[in-house]
Amino acid sequence: MNGFEINKIIAAVIFTVLVVFGIGKITDLIFQVKKPSEAAYKVEAPAVKTASAESSSSGSVDIKALLALGTIEHGEKVFKKCSACHVIAKGGKNKIGPVLYGVLGKKSASVSDYKYSKALIAHGKVWSFAEMNGFLIKPSAHIKGTKMAYAGLKSEKDRASVILYMNSKSDSPLPKP
Ligand code: HEC
Repeated sequence: MNGFEINKIIAAVIFTVLVVFGIGKITDLIFQVKKPSEAAYKVEAPAVKTASAESSSSGSVDIKALLALGTIEHGEKVFKKCSACHVIAKGGKNKIGPVLYGVLGKKSASVSDYKYSKALIAHGKVWSFAEMNGFLIKPSAHIKGTKMAYAGLKSEKDRASVILYMNSKSDSPLPKP
C-alpha cells in the first residue's frame, strides 16, 4: 500500500462521516416536528354509579330505586331462606331468630320475649327500608357481633323483594318511598 492509497482511504472515510452527519442535520432542518402538548384523543371514563357501589361506600342508598327492583311475590320465595330461623306470621313464635311480623318501622331488638345478642340491643336503630337493606347485604358486617348466622343476600332484587314482603306482613306497613 503506498501513501496515495492511504490518502484515498482516509478521504473516503472523512467524506462518509460528513455525508452521514450532513444528512442528519439537513433532515432536522427540513422536518421540524413539534410534539403536540395534548393527546389528540382524550378518553374520559364515565362516572358509573350503581346502588350497590353507593351502599358500600357511603352507606346512603337510593332506596326508592332499589325497592323498584323487587316484588312482594318474589319476596315470599326469598323469605324461604329466612324461614329456617324466622316466622313472619302474626302472633308467630320465635325460632332461632325472633318473629318478624311488623318488623319494618319498629326499633331493632324489640320483640320482648326474645333473647337478642348484646350487639343487636346496642345497635338501637329503627328498621327503616335503608337500615334493613344495609343489614341484609351482610348482617355480620352491618352489626358486628350479631348472632344472626346468615351470610346475606347479594342480589339487589332479592333484598328489595324480601324487604317489600316483610313490610307487607304488618299492621302498619311503612309507606313506600
Ligand atoms: C340461621 C338462622 C337465621 C337465618 C337463616 C336468618 N336469620 Fe335473621 N336473625 C337470626 C337471629 C339469631 C337473629 C337475632 C340476632 C341477634 O340477636 O343478634 C336474627 C335477627 C333478624 C332481624 C332483626 C329482628 C329484630 O327484632 O330486630 C331481622 C330483621 C332478620 N333477622 C331478618 C332476616 C331475614 C330477612 C332473613 C332471610 C334473608 C334472615 N333473617 C335469615 C337468625 C337467622
